[in-house]
Amino acid sequence: MARFIDDLKRTHRCGQLRTSDIGHEVVLFGWIAHRRDFGGCIFVDLRDRHGMTQIVFDTSYETGEVTRLPGREAEPLWDQSQVEQAHQLADEARREWVIGIRGIVVHRGEDNINTNLATGEVEVRVAETVIFNRAETPAFSLEDDISTDEEVRLNYRYLDLRRAPLQRSLRLRHELNQATRSYLSSEGCLELETPILCKYTPGGARNFLVPSRLQRGKFYALAESPQLFKQLFMVAGFDRYFQIVKCFRDEDLRLDRQPEFTQIDVELSFVNQDDVFRLLEGLMFRIFDETKTTDLNALFPSGRFPQMSFAESMNRFGNDKPDLRFGLELKDITDLVIEHDGGEIPLLAPIAEKFKNGTYRREVPAEIVKVFIIPAKAGFSRPQMEQLEKNLREIKGFKGLARAKIGEEGKWTQSPFAKHVSDDFRTLLNKELGVEQGDVICFQLGKTAVVNAALSKLRLDVGKKMGLIPNYGHDGKWEFLWVVNPPLFEENDDGSWAAAHHAFTRPVDEHIELIETDPGRVLCYRYDLVLNGFEIGGGSIRLHDPEVQQQVFTALGIDHDSAKEMFGFFLDALRSGAPPHGGIAIGMDRLAMLISGAPNLRDVIPFPKTNQGVDLMSKAPVSIDQSQLDELYVTSTATKPEPGE
Ligand code: AMO
Repeated sequence: MARFIDDLKRTHRCGQLRTSDIGHEVVLFGWIAHRRDFGGCIFVDLRDRHGMTQIVFDTSYETGEVTRLPGREAEPLWDQSQVEQAHQLADEARREWVIGIRGIVVHRGEDNINTNLATGEVEVRVAETVIFNRAETPAFSLEDDISTDEEVRLNYRYLDLRRAPLQRSLRLRHELNQATRSYLSSEGCLELETPILCKYTPGGARNFLVPSRLQRGKFYALAESPQLFKQLFMVAGFDRYFQIVKCFRDEDLRLDRQPEFTQIDVELSFVNQDDVFRLLEGLMFRIFDETKTTDLNALFPSGRFPQMSFAESMNRFGNDKPDLRFGLELKDITDLVIEHDGGEIPLLAPIAEKFKNGTYRREVPAEIVKVFIIPAKAGFSRPQMEQLEKNLREIKGFKGLARAKIGEEGKWTQSPFAKHVSDDFRTLLNKELGVEQGDVICFQLGKTAVVNAALSKLRLDVGKKMGLIPNYGHDGKWEFLWVVNPPLFEENDDGSWAAAHHAFTRPVDEHIELIETDPGRVLCYRYDLVLNGFEIGGGSIRLHDPEVQQQVFTALGIDHDSAKEMFGFFLDALRSGAPPHGGIAIGMDRLAMLISGAPNLRDVIPFPKTNQGVDLMSKAPVSIDQSQLDELYVTSTATKPEPGE
């Protein structure tokens, strides 16, 4: 008897057979997806990563003219004892068993065609079969659409990955990787690797630490990105670099954040911001083309993505990753409030006063007043409005959302401001905002960051509730945007300055003189690539000039010795002939999530962690024996296990 795999090689994948194969002898291997037993006839849907084929175990079948497998013409085609044995095995077999079959492709008959399957016009009549492996009954049904708890699915990730949606997601990752490699390599970038075990440097994301056994009491940090090393490649003259690289960050997790994720990392010498943009735009066009997502030429005929300054984005949308698939922009009314001393509204008057007496400056305002208008056509009920406000409570510093519903003759109703606001101010504001009866003005006042965080969330929540954007996934809209030139520094609560991104971003040339005098106004050559409201990439032109670098450190309160301690080797390298350079990293998982329309990153990462940072399948992270900790010179202060350990 012929041996499957050794003698009988697989001739087709389970998604391949068509009517042109009718009358051919074939060999298929795969998993039993479904099995229907009609006694004499057993139907099985055989599945592999390419699709599904219906195979039929029918001892009474009579063969017609058949094109034999090459080299097997002398072997029996339809041996009744083999056929009966195959039927017995099929009788015994169950879901997810792994089998091989030899059989004949036939037409299903017009009445039995399955238009949902690529192979739906044909079926294979089985002449011989083998059971490669039995399987325990799976913990959940492996259908495309299932409502099984994600926790259960993550416990058995290897089973979940057999389902078509996840098979598609991982195939998409493959295509994305291939398109990236071929494009960036053809653009002269070398694919070079950088260390994962690195020196810990403060700032940026929180690092995972790894104790060193050989260097007692010392720790490595897992690379949060290849940032310093890719810059060293430029110093070393490699000119153009890329890497598809794992990065590690010990951050609070959410739907678009994983502790371990993949970047498409790029660094280029002798470039300006626009050169980086052109290369990356080309990459996005190539990826969208090769993954058959959409023809970006139709959406961006110039081949370029639009750009918006960080300041404009914050002003109009309240964040630096605006979702441009819908309008509903925020409006800053601080100037009007100042001009009219708060329009007799008790909450607004003190803010106006602080601007007037010089406590606040308009250039870098500590507090602002902004509004967001919910259009009358949204038709939200009062409880719905209250729910929208409730959803904002997760924002740190959020105190409440004052509202005013526009009633007859522009009167404000359902509003804490209604009884105070002067008629002049109300009429003026209504006119400036262009509101009509039934619209609801939502006010936010206070710290700029909180106002923007609250209203940008409100804008998105309202956009989703009004059906202007889907809850997740895409509806064929692809709004790319470069958000450019944010501030270099951000102010700490104690009035000191921190690097908004990192200390090696080049300030805008005209702002260099402000570094010492007015750090808050220094903008820099940093950019984010935004797609449908998600930050899918970020980068900057680097600061390669040691003198300006020194000024930046001074502004950050980092003295010479601390700079040497933290970044010594890197500063030495920058002083040893660093070319002007810049780069970017694309969050590959986020891009895959958006292209595939998945609701979160876990659906495009083969073996993801939960929001608690746990791999439910392997149960990592786990407690470690004291003896192992001793070897690493580490003491654990955890006195009792966390719940679930
Ligand atoms: P940045 O920190 O902006 O830049 O990261 C680049 C992109 O990586 C993605 N990303 C993440 N994706 C999933 N999970 C996470 N926890 C996560 N964190 C970031 C985002 C982000 O835009 N070295 C710089 C790049 C440079 O300057 O060249 C860097 O890492 O899509």
